[in-house]
Amino acid sequence: MASITIRQLDENTKKRLRLRAANHGRSMEDEVRTILRGAAGVSGEARPVPAAPAREAPPRADPAPAANAASGAQRVLLVIGGGIAAYKSLDLIRRLAERGAVVRCILTAAAQEFITPLSAGALSGGRVFTDLFDPESEFDVGHIRLARDTDLVVVAPATADLMAKMAGGHADDLASAVLLATDRPVLIAPAMNPRMWDHPATQRNLAQLQADGVATVGPNAGEMAERGEAGIGRMAEPLEIAAAAEALLGDAAGRPLAGRRVVVTSGPTHEPIDPVRYIANRSSGKQGHAIAAAAAAAGAEVILVSGPVSIPDPPGVKTIKVESAREMFAAVEKALPADCAVFAAAVADWRVATPGREKIKKAKMGAPALALIENPDILATIAQRKARRPKLVIGFAAETEKVIANAKDKLKRKGCDWIVANDVSPETGIMGGESNSVHLVTGDGVESWPPQSKEEVARALVARIAAALGEQP
Ligand code: C5P
Repeated sequence: MASITIRQLDENTKKRLRLRAANHGRSMEDEVRTILRGAAGVSGEARPVPAAPAREAPPRADPAPAANAASGAQRVLLVIGGGIAAYKSLDLIRRLAERGAVVRCILTAAAQEFITPLSAGALSGGRVFTDLFDPESEFDVGHIRLARDTDLVVVAPATADLMAKMAGGHADDLASAVLLATDRPVLIAPAMNPRMWDHPATQRNLAQLQADGVATVGPNAGEMAERGEAGIGRMAEPLEIAAAAEALLGDAAGRPLAGRRVVVTSGPTHEPIDPVRYIANRSSGKQGHAIAAAAAAAGAEVILVSGPVSIPDPPGVKTIKVESAREMFAAVEKALPADCAVFAAAVADWRVATPGREKIKKAKMGAPALALIENPDILATIAQRKARRPKLVIGFAAETEKVIANAKDKLKRKGCDWIVANDVSPETGIMGGESNSVHLVTGDGVESWPPQSKEEVARALVARIAAALGEQP
């Protein structure tokens, strides 16, 4: 029967079959039998054996993605780019596997100058993919399936070149083709020389990738491989990348915000006085960013509208960077509709009515009088409108006295559903600090939460949001 099947195949398929059989050291008929047994689900041959050592074959069969999905293991496709940090990606494979992920690797041509497919295959326990035009892997898996049969794509190290290709939508090798074809979340861990990182072209590409929804981790500051070079450009440590991947993957069972869209504002706003001076406040953005990260980890599509902060963008979140209150308002409007909006930003209440076009000069007459006018109240405007109002609108109240009474008053005045209130008097150390002690004020009453880290506050708030949205259609 097998021979009949072979005769009926077209020339191209016959050629691929011949190559595959040769790689496995089988006759063509045996190869067809193996494939048919696999297709029929006969035990012991459920999947074809991977290629023989023609291109440094890995030690174990490529894990069947369907089987992994069924077992609940999360699947990570790790694209290893060509940089000295590639050796750290071998450790990353182990770190991801320790967390229960099934890792499949793609090595770019440049990556193979630093590490071998054999070592990546030994650590991942699966076939390593290297070549877009390799008939063997195209026949078995294909770059489109490679791009889709995964829960997350991690690019580490993401070199300047790989970032440029991603930003430009290139697809001239397996890594870039897969990155263009994937519809899964993508996390990049950039690594390059600090000057390359600082270059406007790389920063432009980074901004484009972030606007496209690509999450980033690192790069970190420190010594570079090149002697005497230091600055920002070191790839994040494998443990950091694994943690960012874990946050993006979330717990498959614990993604209560899957399918929901959440808008978060965070950080301060800068209100210009003239081209070089501005009015600002001490908000670090830590709480708002933690909420955005926790919502993303819970499966939500998150748009974070952030004022100027010095903390990294949270992984898995689309971050829109703004300066002033009016820019923040416009970005929030653009991000709507949403199921939930969390207004954690410390928006300046006022702005200078007419900022100077040129730097205001010191005058003999003394200090200039700055006329201030009110900024739009983003929270109140969105909460009080009928059209496109998110189902759940949450405000923050940073108070230095009568915290709960003021928060209750604010809940009514602003027309929002909940207020998260905290005491930010300087002695609490909350503003810019790591922990937070909040009261959740809702129409039903007040809950005072114990002091906890800003991440814990974020997770608790996200759990409450999920419960509240879960009760709504
Ligand atoms: O009125 P107050 O500034 O204390 O209110 C704080 C809450 O209102 C926060 O949730 C903040 O993000 C939001 N807010 C706003 N737009 C403003 C001022 C405050 O969204 N212009």
